[in-house]
Amino acid sequence: MIIKADAVGIARAAGILAGGGLVAFPTETVYGLGALASDADAVARVYRVKGRPFRNPLITHLPDTDSARALAGSGWNQMAEDLANEFWPGPLTLILPRGAGLADAVTAGGPTMAVRVPDHPVARSLLQACGRPVVAPSANPSGRLSPTLAEHVEADLGDLVDLILDGGPCQAGVESTVVDVTVSPPRLLRPGPIPPGKLEKLLGELAMGPGAEAIARSPGLDKRHYSPRTRMVVAPSGKAAKSRVGAARARGRLARWISFGLPGADVVLPGDPAGAEQGLFAALHRMDDLGLDLIVVVLPPEGPDWLAVRDRLERASGG
Ligand code: TXA
Ligand code: MG
Repeated sequence: MIIKADAVGIARAAGILAGGGLVAFPTETVYGLGALASDADAVARVYRVKGRPFRNPLITHLPDTDSARALAGSGWNQMAEDLANEFWPGPLTLILPRGAGLADAVTAGGPTMAVRVPDHPVARSLLQACGRPVVAPSANPSGRLSPTLAEHVEADLGDLVDLILDGGPCQAGVESTVVDVTVSPPRLLRPGPIPPGKLEKLLGELAMGPGAEAIARSPGLDKRHYSPRTRMVVAPSGKAAKSRVGAARARGRLARWISFGLPGADVVLPGDPAGAEQGLFAALHRMDDLGLDLIVVVLPPEGPDWLAVRDRLERASGG
């Protein structure tokens, strides 16, 4: 059931979480599927509801940096301190040595954990009211597009969750940037709303991508796909997209194309990375609802600031 994320709704949601239930709630990136991180049954249900492989660990969400420091204990380090000071609350997830009190399944049994302090008034109030660490993977079936509206969660998970808190559209629109600070140099495991240049400025050196060792430790990091149901392909230019769509239509297929700032497309998303990130999943969800045969997306420019959009397009189109 969807309810408004006002004070009453948040109090009710906190009660459900505390009782071991599942609540979908908005964050600044995408909607998350929340459960108490200490509750093995609730965490197991998160995996079941999403159809998520048990080898893919979850992110633990906290209301503020102090709680994250406390959870990490002696595993907290200077890199974590610097990144937290600069980017929390915000769309950054840190990989740290595993803290105490988490159900085994949260870390997929591994020695590290992912933590983040989201920057959304509803998420923060809910986490504060709950008073305990909360896991929250994106609230979508495993392998599908992340939700940026409460309606996306309702359509994809519906009655499988105990409550959906509606806080309107997510502002960032793609999942958080994930940085592993247990290794030296630190490693960017998932590109997200924070441009890599900003991380490098703070950290000095930053290794790119999961790397073989990290994938062996956390198999959820390999090139997994998060796709619309509709077949989707990328095109190198507007011209290429138009001819691909034209060819499909000539065969009687329903096809649409999306561009980033290029006029003439069926959907023109903003031509800047932050605007494109914000609108991307919502546009793909809308296209998915049209019952098309093909979605064609024009690739955005090269360059580090477009890394998150390119990564999600690559995943959505199957590489
Ligand atoms: O923006 C976000 O991060 C959203 C919102 C709801 O907070 N959550 C989210 O969770 O995207 P999820 O489960 O869809 O993605 C979690 C990512 C996965 O790529 C997982 O492999 C990685 O974090 N991860 C979790 N724990 C890890 C660990 N210990 N080591 C390496 N990667 C980890
Ligand atoms: Mg996800």
